[in-house]
Amino acid sequence: MRKKVSVIGAGNVGATCAHWIAAKEMADIVLVDLVEGVPQGKALDLMEAMPIEKRDVQITGSNDYAATANSDIVIITAGIPRKPGMSRDDLLQTNYKIMSDVVGKVVAASPNSILIIVSNPLDAMAQAAFKQAKFPRARVIGMAGVLDSARFRTFIAEELKVSVENVTAFVLGGHGDTMVPLPRYSTVSGVPITELMDKATIDRLVQRTRDGGAEIVKYLKTGSAYYAPSAATVEMVEAILKDKKKILPCAAYLEGEYGIHGLCVGVLCKLGAGGIEQVIQLKLTEEEAAGLKKSADAVKELCAVIGV
Ligand code: LAC
Repeated sequence: MRKKVSVIGAGNVGATCAHWIAAKEMADIVLVDLVEGVPQGKALDLMEAMPIEKRDVQITGSNDYAATANSDIVIITAGIPRKPGMSRDDLLQTNYKIMSDVVGKVVAASPNSILIIVSNPLDAMAQAAFKQAKFPRARVIGMAGVLDSARFRTFIAEELKVSVENVTAFVLGGHGDTMVPLPRYSTVSGVPITELMDKATIDRLVQRTRDGGAEIVKYLKTGSAYYAPSAATVEMVEAILKDKKKILPCAAYLEGEYGIHGLCVGVLCKLGAGGIEQVIQLKLTEEEAAGLKKSADAVKELCAVIGV
């Protein structure tokens, strides 16, 4: 039997997640949205591309969570996106209300699923979902580290004129202005970028990574990025469905790792069939550890506002 992935929110991020999953023939997909007709129309349109792409997957659109029953993975993208000038944190109250409603329905329909949270502000929404779902922490994962790292990798590859395939990078911390790109652990074919670029160049790329989401919002004006966010989400889906034991930066509920207790924040995780199978603790320099703490404090502040 094929795996089943439901995507809540049929906007740009949700629909593009469905697109990548279908293109990779990874699972049957259920697309859910409040707006009548939109998930149905996008699902049918995507379904009709499958003979061309030679992919056998079922894609269903619905306004009813019953269609998501017994999903292996549920991707939650529901919420409003940013407009120019807004920070991710400005979305807090509105998206929290939406998240609470969605998680209740998702959990009732798929009590054994793994949740991947994509709505912003990312870490606070992951925390809200974790608290409400009452799933083990292995089964509630926030997407953002893969996206932020991909942006960093893009800029490194462009700067050094090397293949993106040669570039690995890690970004820890919250998905916000305080995120912590780790140049020491970012490499080109195993060589740390700290040996390939001067500090000023690295600082410039780090800052562009931090501003990566806002850079796209500024261009699009009416919404935020969706190709890279959805590709990042689907890399996580693939790691889980194929039990790849892949090390990816994700928001995980920490229980003392890095000295952080009871908070969802971005760290390196091993993703496999069980979801987060391990939280990996890197040795951090004092400066990196201070950056992570500052980032965790910012997430904690947001969580306190919504009481999660
Ligand atoms: C971004 C938004 C989606 O980083 O958080 O593009």
